[in-house]
Amino acid sequence: LDFAGRTAFVTGGANGIGLGLVRALLAQGCKVAIADIREDALAAALKTLDNQSVLPVQLDVASRAGFADAADRAEAALGPVSLLFNNAGINLFQTIDESSYDDWDWVMGVNLNGVINGVMTFAPRMKALGQGGHIVNTASMASFLCGGAPGIYNTTKFAVRGMSESLRYSLAPHGIGVSVLCPGLVKSHIYASDEVRPAALSGGAKPVDSAAVDRLEQLHQFGMEPDVIAARTLEAVQENRFHIFPHPEFRDELATVFGEILADFRDYPQDAGFDQRVGFEAMR
Ligand code: NAI
Repeated sequence: LDFAGRTAFVTGGANGIGLGLVRALLAQGCKVAIADIREDALAAALKTLDNQSVLPVQLDVASRAGFADAADRAEAALGPVSLLFNNAGINLFQTIDESSYDDWDWVMGVNLNGVINGVMTFAPRMKALGQGGHIVNTASMASFLCGGAPGIYNTTKFAVRGMSESLRYSLAPHGIGVSVLCPGLVKSHIYASDEVRPAALSGGAKPVDSAAVDRLEQLHQFGMEPDVIAARTLEAVQENRFHIFPHPEFRDELATVFGEILADFRDYPQDAGFDQRVGFEAMR
């Protein structure tokens, strides 16, 4: 895939990984729409970029109508999009049993519906354009590794991974690749997610634990640089690889997880008359 001259749309592009992707795409000669809910962050990002090929678009990815409108604005200014990075995401660390429906609606709305809205908006346009392209959905190592506290986050990221893998099959005949980005810790602003929580979904929120936010902020200082993640992501896109694992140290942990999954199988006698895998193959 040749990046130069293509138009890219990056959600959550005003900070962290998204901004790293924007810089990397510009360096490859792309035009880039940066979509983000934060106008202050968009303005700050634009200043640091100082580039004519960038368009800031204020967007809440959880909004279907907002997404379609943002896509129209981006394509009118920069031309048809053939590279899509569904990257916007937020974090909320609390167990599922301690969460409210407002918590679910907020995190699912951004982390899962935001990706769905990106795909539903752009996949038909990219197919109709007929110039191939690529979609990268940002999940996380939390799309494989679970804990109690990231319960809702885990749920959304597992879903993004599953959705991306299915989409990869259906878009391949159109020359459109799909990848899922699974970082570990990143040097980013995700610890400040609560600042972008909509008032309408704040009724059921627990009071913000500012000591915990401070701890997270400190932890994220040790995260991987977004520019490194972005470079590894574009390399994977070029190679049309599905999984993008920028942090090599998680390989052993995944081996353990897959081992634990396989260990749950038992040597039950198999139905002699029919191999049940045939049914699954038929669904594909
Ligand atoms: P970040 O907070 O630095 O950047 C995310 C951007 O998304 C922010 O600019 C924020 O304003 C924007 N955003 C939030 N809600 C939005 C909405 N409703 N609509 C549009 N934009 C919205 O965070 P980071 O870390 O760069 O996050 C990017 C992605 O990476 C997320 O999907 C996150 O879950 C994922 N990730 C982050 C990790 C980390 O350690 N920070 C680890 C693994 C995955």
